[in-house]
Amino acid sequence: MERACGYADVLVGLQYGDEGKAKVVDLLANEYDVIARFNGGANAGHTVVTHRGMVKLRQIPSAVFYPDKVLYIGSGCAVGIVQLADEIKMLLDQGLSLEGRLFISGQCAVVQPSQMYQDKVHGQEIGTTGNGIGPCYADRALRMQDGKRVSLQIRDLLTDSESAIHLMQYRLEKLDSDNSLNGHFKTARRDMAEFARAWAVVKTYVVRDPLFLVKRVKDGARVLFEGAQSVLLDVMYGDQPYVTSSHTSPSYAFVGGDLPCHYHRKTIGVAKAIVSRVGSGPFPSELGGERSAKYCENAALIGSGRTIEFEKFDPQQLLKSGADFDLGIAIRMLTAEYGTGSGRPRRIGLLDLAQLSDAIALHGIDEIFLNKCDCLQYFAKTPLGGIPLLVSRKDATATVYFDSFALEGSSLPMELIKILQFIEQEIGCRIRGIGTGPGRDQSIIFNKTT
Ligand code: IMP
Repeated sequence: MERACGYADVLVGLQYGDEGKAKVVDLLANEYDVIARFNGGANAGHTVVTHRGMVKLRQIPSAVFYPDKVLYIGSGCAVGIVQLADEIKMLLDQGLSLEGRLFISGQCAVVQPSQMYQDKVHGQEIGTTGNGIGPCYADRALRMQDGKRVSLQIRDLLTDSESAIHLMQYRLEKLDSDNSLNGHFKTARRDMAEFARAWAVVKTYVVRDPLFLVKRVKDGARVLFEGAQSVLLDVMYGDQPYVTSSHTSPSYAFVGGDLPCHYHRKTIGVAKAIVSRVGSGPFPSELGGERSAKYCENAALIGSGRTIEFEKFDPQQLLKSGADFDLGIAIRMLTAEYGTGSGRPRRIGLLDLAQLSDAIALHGIDEIFLNKCDCLQYFAKTPLGGIPLLVSRKDATATVYFDSFALEGSSLPMELIKILQFIEQEIGCRIRGIGTGPGRDQSIIFNKTT
């Protein structure tokens, strides 16, 4: 095979999602021609902070603010048509142009209204985002039931949207006849009407050619695959059942992103210095352990989020308490750890270098970005006497404490440099950059190892 001029890098989150991948994609976008999604759908919440304000993306790749970048949604994604149409409208209203640069693969699975309902009902135990992603992928694997197709691709809508919508309608009626819609049939019918309107918007961005990306890379395009969710939530590698339903591992980028792995150049991982997790499932470094998990689960159920926590608690007081559970709440409040789409309070944990180093080894990560390093400063206000990091020692997890620091001026404090050097040693991987705040300009890229 002739060596191609172009290549593809893959960027994935290394923890439980929400590591600030979008910010890093936005930071690196100028080094690429195409930014592509390969998994997940509207369950992702990617926040980009720009000079125009904050934008929350769910399905469109994070380089929207670079007018010359091609944005591609690969076949591995489960597309929520209504949410995508809303997202397109939101960006167009901001004066951005998507014409001739947003492309959606015709092979993407379509999330059907019935699948959204199934997820809302059955996804609660896992704490899914309720976007129908699990049922959509499950139906893709099932393919047919009762002599009818249960899974649809976007190209089915292109070929014959009337029949495809009819099939979706049939599945809703079936759910209703099984009493699975809990009396929501009227709303579901409205959803179908909304779906048809949304499809008219999305349709214009669909590409039928399965070789769309291959051809561009052969012509020299540099691709950055942007992973959604994160490696610890991979449907196969993560802790079942508390995972998402797609493959989040970087190797999958070349399946879901419609490109042969022949073009792979390097894999970039994104982690954050304070770990968070939404939804249920194991979280070894969680501050406040089981109590925190229950508290956050309950908060999600009753719809309690940032506003209620700020009414109830003073984070500065909680920092002084010294109790892990209190510290978790304080850090969440001070570092804005609430779900992008749902507003759910995220569970908070310490940076677990044992876990991080395993993720790096398993997924072949070449370099990492460590976001939210500024958040480590809050430990100075606690009775802990330093910044705690978890490490693996003789098959057990130990806590190592580092001197606190304050970020002031443009140079990095020596204490933070020491922490970064220690992390590089522990994880066996280069830190290419760090985040020191949510803004576009609050990042530092290193030219060489710290
Ligand atoms: P689903 O992806 O909606 O099926 O949800 C499955 C699990 O993955 C739940 O615990 C979700 O909270 C979690 N999850 C899904 N998407 C994201 C994300 O973008 N960030 C963090 N967690 C996510």
